[in-house]
Amino acid sequence: MYTQALNSAAEPARTASDPEREKRFQARIDAEERIEPNDWMPEQYRRTLIRQISQHAHSEIVGMLPEGNWITRAPSLKRKAALLAKVQDEGGHGAYLYAAAETLGAAREDLEDELLSGKAKYSSIFNYPTLSWADIGIIGWLVDGAAIMNQIPLCRCSYGPYARAMIRVCKEESFHQRQGYEIMLALCRGTPEQKAMAQEALNRWWWPVLMMFGPSDKDSQHTETAMRWKIKRFTNDELRQKFIDATVPQGHFLGLTFPDPALTFNETTQHWDFGEIDWTEFKRVIAGDGPCNRQRMKQMRAKHDNNAWVRAAALAYANKRQQRAEAAHRVAAE
Ligand SMILES: [Fe+2]
Ligand SMILES: [Fe+2]
Repeated sequence: MYTQALNSAAEPARTASDPEREKRFQARIDAEERIEPNDWMPEQYRRTLIRQISQHAHSEIVGMLPEGNWITRAPSLKRKAALLAKVQDEGGHGAYLYAAAETLGAAREDLEDELLSGKAKYSSIFNYPTLSWADIGIIGWLVDGAAIMNQIPLCRCSYGPYARAMIRVCKEESFHQRQGYEIMLALCRGTPEQKAMAQEALNRWWWPVLMMFGPSDKDSQHTETAMRWKIKRFTNDELRQKFIDATVPQGHFLGLTFPDPALTFNETTQHWDFGEIDWTEFKRVIAGDGPCNRQRMKQMRAKHDNNAWVRAAALAYANKRQQRAEAAHRVAAE
């Protein structure tokens, strides 16, 4: 409610195009100053950030589903405790990020509606199923690993609240990555069946993980402005290459083979060359036709309906507290 009021009150000043102010705004960005919620900003900057931050928040929340699937089936108490903590962390990341989007005037209810109606996107990776315990290792090692690659530069994002949220989030992501790698290590040092399970999981997840960095630079619509505004610091292809360079030696240490015959170390560039990504699969999954899109959205809608009483109770409690505070204020004023 409050954010909606803020939004409509602030709208006229923010939408007006103002070349002088835009110039000063860009100069602040170029000087590495942080933009804060009450500062003037171009409307497109605000919209770009709301879109990016809310997509990021949705991804954290939807990302709880594939891993939540294994909490009751974790192979030991230790694994269960770690997985439970990790999934809770992801919920916390979602909450921080929704709060960061609210500082830009977005209403949380609207952001949720956009997700539930299918209008807003979330990371394509969470539309793949978790079929074995090794998938939990893979998600920590690779999916959280890719998330770290994306999010470390976001700690220096020009928008203050987003950058600060990312600092804490990245600390937790590095724990997630380690717990995933440790699961992989245990499986790869285990029985031949466990090793085969780890390899099979890598075979299924490797390509979808590479797609997490988004379309190739030549096809990316948002990169250029996002770089100028220092929302983004590296392009999709740069981040993908950094991730591959960091990850391939980790996979080889586990004794695993990557499902890409073209993967070779290039002595000249000092980077790993890799094969062609299947962008038709990426587009299909983003458009809603991945292996689990329908299931995820059904789960999200059911969760939203089942939790309606929690929202109603929280709102009633907040109203009661406010009424009490107002009454106390009136007594004090008399
Ligand atoms: Fe996260
Ligand atoms: Fe994570």
